[in-house]
Amino acid sequence: MFDSVPRITLKTDSGEKNLATSLPPIRTISVLGAGTMGHGIAQVAAAADYDVIVRDVDDESLARGRQAIERNLAKGVSLGKVSEEDRDRTLARIKTTTRLEDIGSADLVIEAAPENLDLKQSLLRGSEAHTSEKCIWATNTSSLSITKIAGAAARSEQVVGMHFFNPVHIMRLVEIVVGERTSDATVEAIRAVAQRMKKEPIVVRDVPGFASSRLGVTLGLEAMRMVEQGVASARDIDTAMELGYNHPMGPLRLTDLVGLDVRLSIAEYLHGQLGSEAFRPPEILRRMVSQGKLGKKSGEGFYKWNEHEGTQKAYTT
Ligand SMILES: NC(=O)c1ccc[n+]([C@@H]2O[C@H](COP(=O)([O-])OP(=O)(O)OC[C@H]3O[C@@H](n4cnc5c(N)ncnc54)[C@H](O)[C@@H]3O)[C@@H](O)[C@H]2O)c1
Repeated sequence: MFDSVPRITLKTDSGEKNLATSLPPIRTISVLGAGTMGHGIAQVAAAADYDVIVRDVDDESLARGRQAIERNLAKGVSLGKVSEEDRDRTLARIKTTTRLEDIGSADLVIEAAPENLDLKQSLLRGSEAHTSEKCIWATNTSSLSITKIAGAAARSEQVVGMHFFNPVHIMRLVEIVVGERTSDATVEAIRAVAQRMKKEPIVVRDVPGFASSRLGVTLGLEAMRMVEQGVASARDIDTAMELGYNHPMGPLRLTDLVGLDVRLSIAEYLHGQLGSEAFRPPEILRRMVSQGKLGKKSGEGFYKWNEHEGTQKAYTT
């Protein structure tokens, strides 16, 4: 289903032609949504000296987002990673609004609203109505098809995926997801923005799971099957990947952090879309979710979590 040659050639870093010049320089970024991802995107954008307009539906969500940015920056200052001047400059660059009409000066819109196709398409149409013809529209969707979202656009060649990772101010990867109609100039402009945000961009075709989830989920599901079959304990399987392969965190500990329910729904989605047995959710995952063992957020998953002591004090069940 996905082995046809993409219309766009995915260039490597050697990219002979620089098409970014055919779009105007990006100075102002609007972030739609001030939640878990949106506040982090706003923070890294402002820290990279872009003017930032964050739009959410109510003042409470905007206030929560700004407080989260302030906390991140305060921690950065206390660790000596952010100077007080940079903290102040970053905060000063972020404006907030509840009105979509206020994003008019944006050269790039990054949408980080809830994972719902209709909502994202209506935000895309609304953004197009209020921004210039050259404005790029990027979505932070973790699973929806960029091509499908772009179906709602008048300028679908300027629609692209820009998939950040949580927490945004720490995780360095950005997946640039190329829809069927996304132009090379759009991809190159987003690559430049990601690099200015000190991120490492990779370019991926618009396929279910993109690159990161597809590979990461396979590893996590296989680790669960190994626990199910009694190959080794959760802790030992994680240790194998941490010490034998230098992964910063084993796949089961990571599953506990992401949430077993979230993992189950991604596995079901990828199994349905890609039809590969590698994505069939293991029985142990379904059972644990039905028992309310959702990982860190419920206090128990493949590990038991002590709310006050955090990750390091986790112990195997
Ligand atoms: N949480 C993650 O780890 C993660 C990682 C990568 C990608 N994503 C994707 O990022 C997107 C956002 O996820 P999140 O975890 O930040 O969600 P979230 O629920 O934390 O935040 C979503 C925010 O969008 C706001 N919102 C709702 N409707 C809106 C509208 N019409 N206009 C503007 N804002 C609106 C909500 O009030 C909320 O503040 C989703 O597409 C998700 O799949 C999430």
